[in-house]
Amino acid sequence: MNGWLVVNEFVMTDKFNELFSMLFKAAMAEGIELTKRSNSELWTMLGSCNYRFYDFFTTGCTFEKDGASMVMSAADIGLEMPDFILFWDKDIRLAYELERQGMKVFNSAQSIADCDDKAVTFLKLAAAGIRQPDTYISPKKFHTDGLFDKKFLDMAGSRLGFPCVVKENFGSFGQQVYLAMDRKQLEEFVITLGDRPYIIQEYIFASKGRDIRLEVVGDKVVAGMQRSNPMDFRANITNGGSMQPYTPNVEQAKMAVEACQALGLDFAGVDILFGPGEKPLLCEVNSNAHFKNLFDCTGVNAAEYIIRYIKSKLS
Ligand SMILES: Nc1ncnc2c1ncn2[C@@H]1O[C@H](COP(=O)(O)OP(=O)(O)O)[C@@H](O)[C@H]1O
Ligand SMILES: [Mg+2]
Repeated sequence: MNGWLVVNEFVMTDKFNELFSMLFKAAMAEGIELTKRSNSELWTMLGSCNYRFYDFFTTGCTFEKDGASMVMSAADIGLEMPDFILFWDKDIRLAYELERQGMKVFNSAQSIADCDDKAVTFLKLAAAGIRQPDTYISPKKFHTDGLFDKKFLDMAGSRLGFPCVVKENFGSFGQQVYLAMDRKQLEEFVITLGDRPYIIQEYIFASKGRDIRLEVVGDKVVAGMQRSNPMDFRANITNGGSMQPYTPNVEQAKMAVEACQALGLDFAGVDILFGPGEKPLLCEVNSNAHFKNLFDCTGVNAAEYIIRYIKSKLS
């Protein structure tokens, strides 16, 4: 069995490389040949396919050269269609195109797209009846010149109260998540966002600086940790939080698995807040979760679960 690990050409940091080597090791242990391919590399290939050829991977390609019709196959440029793609990137258009060309992509393009956008995630989870903090989704702006979401901020601010949480729809590691202490600060944050979409969320005070991260693979939680940060309302480890192993109760585990099912995910890192009375509230779902911290904390290697899960789905 062979697969491609699709990664982003422009974020090959140590943090990501560490994760990728865990996936390579796990694949090797299962007898799977995993090859790294960057989004840039694939777009270069596919871009020319779409222009000159049709369905390059599946049918081979016919093109005109010196008046003669030539046939070229994927093998001619050293490419074989892989049995699967482990898509560890957010280049959604690429994921869709690989699926369109008949490849099996994990997680699916649609589920990665839905997780990438916090507003879409919220809507899909709400439709599935999963409890989340009260949330308002910013109205789309095409440009910011002279336009301002004043009415929207008045309404969301007065209904949610202060402090409230502002999150850019696209962001991670807690870096695009802010706490607005009053209406003025809410407005200041939103002005700095320009035309970037955002959500405004009820601040869950009971969860201040603490949450849980559960890793789901298939229909099971395979590992969990509690994260805490006494210095910040955001518990992300990258933002200075500390971690300890955590065994979820039935309600938390059920919520994490149901969230993944609602989003059509094969695996994910699910963040859950502690609501009043410790009732769980779904915070967000990460289709490409960084599981190295979880490994350091719990000794559970999510890469092994993910690779075995993919193998079981394909055999
Ligand atoms: N509504 C909220 N109330 C209280 N804390 C929150 C809320 N939303 C997020 N947080 C805290 O902020 C952190 C980052 O938010 P999250 O939505 O997970 O964004 P990111 O994708 O950046 O991790 C969470 O892990 C949690 O600790
Ligand atoms: Mg998070």
